[in-house]
Amino acid sequence: MENLLVTGGAGFIGSNFVRHVLAHTDLTVTILDKLTYAANLGSIEHLPSDRCRLVIGDICDAGLVDELASTHDTVVHFAAESHNDNSLQDPSPFVQTNLVGTFVLLEAARKHDLRFHHISTDEVYGDLELDDPQRFTESTPYRPSSPYSATKAGSDHLVAAWTRSFGVQATTSNCSNNYGPWQHVEKFIPRQITQLIDGLRPKVYGEGRNVRDWIHVDDHSSAVLAILSDGQIGQTYLIGADGERSNREVVGALLTIFGREPDDFEHVADRAGHDLRYAIDPTLLRTELGWKPRHDDVETGLAATVEWYRAHEHWWRSAKVSTERKYEGQEQ
Ligand code: NAD
Ligand code: DAU
Repeated sequence: MENLLVTGGAGFIGSNFVRHVLAHTDLTVTILDKLTYAANLGSIEHLPSDRCRLVIGDICDAGLVDELASTHDTVVHFAAESHNDNSLQDPSPFVQTNLVGTFVLLEAARKHDLRFHHISTDEVYGDLELDDPQRFTESTPYRPSSPYSATKAGSDHLVAAWTRSFGVQATTSNCSNNYGPWQHVEKFIPRQITQLIDGLRPKVYGEGRNVRDWIHVDDHSSAVLAILSDGQIGQTYLIGADGERSNREVVGALLTIFGREPDDFEHVADRAGHDLRYAIDPTLLRTELGWKPRHDDVETGLAATVEWYRAHEHWWRSAKVSTERKYEGQEQ
């Protein structure tokens, strides 16, 4: 493994992974990114130009992907339409990028004999009851709920089929909810942090009892690098850091950081088909690859994330304006 093609490297997790690889290895990186609304060039500026370059393009462009595949040995595939709420408004780009785009990349990996790592989500397993003692494992059956998670589930199946039928050297990881710096303000935690910075109230869907299993994005990146280096071909690894919190708990922690009352938030219309709870059992990753998270306290990570958003308003302000305009229509 010498040169990585990282799709979606201008997005939240992809850019974190690129920074992680440049800091912890000697590898060179090409980012392939279409620069959708979710990308931010500010997330990848200042990267060393002798080891990292950006190609602006679409993973569905088979000619471009084939050309890039011929000069790389490994693909790490982050590019996706990633936001559930958007998939409920218009599923079409989700089908195109998440399914067709993954297909195009797999065909190039097959032709050029590339190592392939596919980034997926715990949402492919559907949801759990609040009091269910079980957590998701690598053998939990697929049961996706939203158009977003259905297209991610489909992309996982494509990767598994290309491995079994064509011998593509692939691994897949399914991670829980990420938080940390550089995350688009449409997502739950940065949305609420920026509401609070603006002196407004956080907006919680429905009752806010829904539980997500939060992991710091740095820990997602270190897990992906561990799988790339030492993972078994054909294996799926679940990535999680024992960070289960209800949405009300997260909002309560943020309100406390801002010196506000923990119930000073607004209930807004619930998300259609809203998954109740996600929870990851990361035993395989920890035992087989010896990985463990560095950030093991969500509240400490949230406080650092708040500081980052306070210091980087120039990075998020214009996206905040367009995002809130979009949400206005959805939440009445
Ligand atoms: P993001 O929306 O922040 O970034 C996605 C990136 O992909 C953007 O830079 C965008 O421009 C690019 N992109 C979209 N369509 C493209 C296309 N057709 N061609 C090239 N580039 C394209 O997403 P994220 O939150 O960083 O998620 C990255 C990956 O991780 C996704 O595959 C997502 O399903 C998965 N994931 C996310 C989370 C999470 O909590 N955010 C958790 C588990 C898994
Ligand atoms: O579990 C992994 C998934 O986590 C990833 O695959 C997705 O790409 C990522 O977006 C995330 O999906 P969620 O739908 O869980 O994340 P989101 O940030 O949109 O919402 C988190 C929770 O917060 C969810 O229960 C909905 C709720 N929510 C969200 C927003 C934006 C609110 O209550 N208020 C909000 O304003």
